[in-house]
Amino acid sequence: MATLSSDLRIDIDRLSDRLAVLAEIGAIEGTEGCARLALTDEDKAGRDLVVSWMRDLDLTITVDSIGNVVGVMDGEHDGQPVMTGSHIDTVRTGGRYDGNLGVLAGLEVIETLRAAGITPPRGLAVAFFTDEEGARFPPDMLGSLVYVGGMSVEEAHAIEGIDGATVGGELDRIGYLGPAPLPAPAPHAFVELHVEQGPVLEAEELTIGAVTGVQGISWTEVSVTGQSNHAGTTPMALRKDPGVVAFRTAAFVRELADELGDPQVATVGRMHLHPNLVNVVPATADFTIDLRHTDNDVLLDAERRTHEFLLEAAAAEGCTVATKSLARFDPVEFDDSVVACVEQAALTQGHTVRRMPSGAGHDAQMLARVCPTGMIFVPSVNGLSHNPAEYTSPTDLEAGANVLLQVMLELAAT
Ligand code: GLV
Ligand code: MN
Ligand code: MN
Repeated sequence: MATLSSDLRIDIDRLSDRLAVLAEIGAIEGTEGCARLALTDEDKAGRDLVVSWMRDLDLTITVDSIGNVVGVMDGEHDGQPVMTGSHIDTVRTGGRYDGNLGVLAGLEVIETLRAAGITPPRGLAVAFFTDEEGARFPPDMLGSLVYVGGMSVEEAHAIEGIDGATVGGELDRIGYLGPAPLPAPAPHAFVELHVEQGPVLEAEELTIGAVTGVQGISWTEVSVTGQSNHAGTTPMALRKDPGVVAFRTAAFVRELADELGDPQVATVGRMHLHPNLVNVVPATADFTIDLRHTDNDVLLDAERRTHEFLLEAAAAEGCTVATKSLARFDPVEFDDSVVACVEQAALTQGHTVRRMPSGAGHDAQMLARVCPTGMIFVPSVNGLSHNPAEYTSPTDLEAGANVLLQVMLELAAT
C-alpha cells in the first residue's frame, strides 16, 4: 500500500510555473489577473494548455458533453478513483488562483507521485469543470452540476449567456462537446484545494482551512420596465423610472444584510439601464441580486423579503417587474471524515488549521451530492478575490498542495 513517506513533497516551483503560464492566457494588462469567461476563445486556449499537461503526464483523458475534462492516473486496482480538481474559467476581472490552483495542484500531486515511482491503490483523477463561475452562463458550478446529474445536458446546452450565445453552441464552437456519458459515475471521494477568497485565515494567521461546507446561494435576475421620457420636461410626480426601483432594491438588500448580520451577504453586481443616457428617464433596468447564507431558513426569509420589497418599490413607481431565478443552491455540509482527514493532514505537516465554511460556491458542493467530499483552503492576501489583485504566497500554495497530496493518498488507500 502506498503511504506518504515523510520526505514526499510537491515541487512548488513547478506548480508556480504552471500557474504563471496559464495566467498568461487572458491576462489583464497591467495586472496579475485573468479574463477567461467560460467557453470563450481564452477559455479554449486555457483548456488546450491544461489538456496538453495532462497528456504530458500520460493521464487517460475524457471530455463529456458539458465540456468537463477529467485526467486519470491508474491505481494498483480497479475501482472508482479519488478525484480532485476545480475550474479554469474566471470572472471577467479574475485572479490567477481561483479554481486554477485546484486543477494545477492536482496535476502537481500526480507528477510528484510519478517522479517518486508511487502507484496508489486507487486511481487518482484531476478534473476541470465547465463554467464554475456562472458569470457568462448562469448558474455557477454548471459543469459539476451536470456531472452529478443535477441538470440534464439538454437543459444545460440551452442556457443563454449574457452575450446571447448558448452553452451548447459555444461548446461545439470551441471543440469541447465530448462523448463521455453524463451523469458521470461517482468518484470514490472528492477533495478540492482552493484559495479562501476571504479574510479569515489571514486575519487569524492560519495556513490551512478544513472546509466544513458551502453556504446557500440565491441568484435572481430582475427586469423592471417603466416609461422612458425626457429628463428635463417630465415632472418627478409623473415619472415611472425603473432605475429608481433598481437603486432602491440595491439599497434595500444592503440594509437587509446589515440587519440579518453575518454570514448574510447581499450583492447587486450587474445592472444595466436602457437607453443609458444622461438626459433620458430609463425605459428598463435589468439587474441581478446575489444572496447567500449558511442557514437555508434565513436565506429563504431574505429572498421573500427582497421579493416583497421589489414588488412594492415597482408598484410605487408605476413600473412592472419580472424576475428569473439564475441559481439556487441549498447550503451543503461536507463529509466529516474528509474534513477530519484534511485537518489531520494539516496538523501532521505542522500547519495551523481551523474548520470553516466557504462563502464562495465551489464544484466540491456539487460532488458532495454523490461522494464523500471535502475542501482545503489556503489564505488570500487582503481577503481579495474576483479581483486581478488576488494573491496567495508560494509558501501557502505549497502547504495547501502538500495537504492535498496527503489527503488524496489517504483517501486512495481506503
Ligand atoms: C462562484 O464561484 C461564486 O461563488 O460566485
Ligand atoms: Mn473558484
Ligand atoms: Mn470564482
